[in-house]
Amino acid sequence: MLKYIQKRFAMSEQGAKDFIKGALWTTLQNFSFMLPVILVYLFLEHILAPYLNGQEAVISSLWPYIVFSILSVATVYVIAWHQYNNTYISVYNESAVRRISLAEKLRKLPLSYFGERNLSDLTSTVMQDATDLEHTFSHAVPQLVGSLVTLALAMAGLSFLNWQLAIAVFWVVPVALMLLQITRRMQTKEHRAGYLLKRAVTEKIQEGIRQVQEIKSYGHEEAYLHELSGVQARFEKAQIKGELLIGVIINAAHSLIKLGIPTLILVGATLLLDGNVDFLTYLFFLVLSSVIFNPLLNALEHGAVLFFLDIRINRMKEIMDLPVQSGTTGYHVDDYTIRFNRVGFSYKDGEGKVLHDVSFEARQGEVTALIGPSGGGKSTAAKLAARFWDVNNGSITLGGTDITTIDPETLLKNYSIVFQDVVLFNASVMDNIRIGKKDASDGEVLCAAHAARCDDFVHNLPQGYRTIIGENGSTLSGGERQRISIARALLKDAPIVLLDEATASVDAENETKIQAGISELVTGRTVLIIAHRMRTVANADKVVVLKEGQVVEQGTPQELLKKNGGVYKNMVELQTPHNRE
Ligand SMILES: Nc1ncnc2c1ncn2[C@@H]1O[C@H](COP(=O)(O)OP(=O)(O)O)[C@@H](O)[C@H]1O
Ligand SMILES: [Mg+2]
Repeated sequence: MLKYIQKRFAMSEQGAKDFIKGALWTTLQNFSFMLPVILVYLFLEHILAPYLNGQEAVISSLWPYIVFSILSVATVYVIAWHQYNNTYISVYNESAVRRISLAEKLRKLPLSYFGERNLSDLTSTVMQDATDLEHTFSHAVPQLVGSLVTLALAMAGLSFLNWQLAIAVFWVVPVALMLLQITRRMQTKEHRAGYLLKRAVTEKIQEGIRQVQEIKSYGHEEAYLHELSGVQARFEKAQIKGELLIGVIINAAHSLIKLGIPTLILVGATLLLDGNVDFLTYLFFLVLSSVIFNPLLNALEHGAVLFFLDIRINRMKEIMDLPVQSGTTGYHVDDYTIRFNRVGFSYKDGEGKVLHDVSFEARQGEVTALIGPSGGGKSTAAKLAARFWDVNNGSITLGGTDITTIDPETLLKNYSIVFQDVVLFNASVMDNIRIGKKDASDGEVLCAAHAARCDDFVHNLPQGYRTIIGENGSTLSGGERQRISIARALLKDAPIVLLDEATASVDAENETKIQAGISELVTGRTVLIIAHRMRTVANADKVVVLKEGQVVEQGTPQELLKKNGGVYKNMVELQTPHNRE
C-alpha cells in the first residue's frame, strides 16, 4: 500500500507514511466528533426508556454526563492536535521535499531538456504545482479518505444494529461517488484546458518582459497587448466554464448526500409503524445521521481540487522519470586529449542532424581551432565536448575514456569555458569573476581580470570591481561582458579550455592583448577555440573546418593555406585588409 501511494501521488516514502497516518487520524477525528451526539443519545435514552415502559424517568445524578462531556472535549482536542500534526505539518514537509527533489532532478537533467521547454513551464511546476498539491493534500485528500473510512466503518456497525435503516441512510454515498466518478473525465478535461491557458498567459507576460526592448523599438506594443488580451480572455472563459461545471457537480453530490436523512425518516417511520424497529434504535439512527455525513460534505467542499490532482501529479512524475546523465564520479586521468570519433548529433530526436560523422582530435598541449560558416555546428561540437548533450552516434573520448561514462559535474571540473552567449549574474564584477573559482583570493581574481583586460573599463565603473552590474550584466557592453567571462575562465585555470568566439565583440587592439593572456594559459592544456577572425587562429596548431555539420578540411594553418579553393584559404583571403574595398 505504501508503494502504491508513493507512486500514485508522486510522494516520498516518508510522505506516503505520513499520508496514511493523516488519514487514520482524520478517521479518528471524525469518530471523536460523534461523541457529543452519543452523549445526547444516552441522555435521551435514559429519560425515554423508562417512559416507554410506562415508568417515570428519574435522573439521580448528572455527574456521569458531566464527566463524559469533559472526557469527550479532551479526546476531541487531543485527536485534533494529532490530526493537525499528521496532515498539515507533514504535508508542508513533504512539499519541501518535493520541491528540493525536483530542483535536484533539474540540476541533473541534460541541457537538451531545457532547450525544449520554456522557463515559465518549469517554474510553475516547481512552485505553483507543488503549492496546489500542498493545498490538496492538507485540505482535501486525507479528509476524503478519512471520511470514506469513517463512513464504511459506521455503515458496517450500524448494519448490525438494523440493516434496513442502514441502507436507508447510506445509499446516497455510493450514488454520489458514482456521480463524481462518471463526470470525472469531463471535469479533468475542462480543468486541463484552463490550466494550459493559464500557462499561456504566464508565458505571454514573461515574453513581454523579456523582449520589452524589441517590442518597443519595433512599435510592437499594440500587437503585443492585443495578443495578451486574447489569451487572457480565452483563459477567463475556460476558467468560468470549468468552475461552473465543477460547481454544479459538487453541489449535485452535496444535495444527493443530504437525501440520506429524509429517506431515513420515511423508511424509519414505516418500519416503526409496522413494529419492525424499536423507537430507540430509530432515534439512534436519526441522531447519528445528523452528523455522520459532515466529514464527507466538508471534504467535498474542497472537492474541486481533487480533479486537478492528476494533471499536476503527472507533470511531477514526468519530470521525475526523465533520464539523467549519469557516470562515475571517480574519474581522474592526466591525459586531456579530446577525440571525436565519427560523431553524429541532432538536437531533437528524429530531426535533421546538426553533425554528421565528425572526427577530429584536440590534443593536449595544442591549440585546435574550429572554423567555418555560421550554423556549421562549431558551438554544438564545443558543447558536446563538455557533455552538455550526449551524442547520437559515434563517441567523444577524453584521454581515451568515453565521456558518457563520466559524471557531468565531475567532467566539467576539467573545463574552463567561455561561451558565445555570456551569462553574468546581478552581482559585483569581482563576484562574477570569482564564480570561476569559489575560494580564490581577491589578488587572484584581480590578476585574472588584468589578463583579460578588464582593468580599463572597470576603472570607469562607479565602484570599480565592487560595482553591481545588473541582471546578466545589462549595464555593460558585449565586449566588456566577454572580458569578464574570459577572466572567469582564466581564474578557473582548468586543463581544458573551450573558447567559443570569446573575443568576437572585443575590439582588435584589446583582442591582441587578451590573446597574449590566453596564450599564457594554454601551455600544456587542451585548447579548443572557435573564431571567425582568421587572425585569431593563424597561430593555432591545427585548424578543423566544419561546414554543414561535416569536417571538410583539417590540418595546420600552413597546410590549409596551400589548398586552392579551400574554405580556410578563402576565409583568410576575404579577411586580409588589401582584399577589402
Ligand atoms: N539549442 C539548439 N536547439 C536546436 N537547434 C540548435 C540549437 N543550437 C544550435 N542549433 C542548430 O544547430 C546548427 C548548428 O549551430 P551551431 O553549432 O550554433 O553553429 P555555429 O556555432 O557553427 O554557428 C544550426 O542549424 C542551429 O540552428
Ligand atoms: Mg556558434
